[in-house]
Amino acid sequence: MSIKKKVDFEYIVGDILSNEKFKSLNNEFHHGITRYEHSLRVARYTYWVSKTFHMNKSVEVTRAALLHDFYNDSELGEETSVEKLSTHPYMAAQNAIKYFDINDFQKNIIEVHMFPITKVLPKTKEAVLVSLMDKVAAVYEIGNYKLALNLSMTLIFIYNILTIER
Ligand SMILES: [Fe+2]
Ligand SMILES: [Fe+2]
Repeated sequence: MSIKKKVDFEYIVGDILSNEKFKSLNNEFHHGITRYEHSLRVARYTYWVSKTFHMNKSVEVTRAALLHDFYNDSELGEETSVEKLSTHPYMAAQNAIKYFDINDFQKNIIEVHMFPITKVLPKTKEAVLVSLMDKVAAVYEIGNYKLALNLSMTLIFIYNILTIER
């Protein structure tokens, strides 16, 4: 990322990164790293793609990407790990509304990021983007860098096909 883009990215998400509740994600583990690091990676990927493809809602989608896993495990109680796959997006959205006053467009991005595990369809191309970037980040984080690269190229290709203006 260029210095200008780095500064821009930090300006967009600075208040979230310095929030105490968000910082507590440093104590939650996710794919062998912290949920804070994972969320930051998904936000950086999303920001990069949204800027590269000149998407209008770059700020809103980047902030939603950063908040897509904004929850602590303790908030999900006794749920099994399989149940958590489909319930954590709703907890993250609730927290995002409570702490950052997100809009409905961002709420949908967060709630559907586990699609197709959650069976609610993404309503916007930005929601599709965050869901894709979350999957690319997860593959990268489990250590399969080549697969992550191939997957990201394939997903960007599919994303472009789906969102091309006809
Ligand atoms: Fe998630
Ligand atoms: Fe995630």
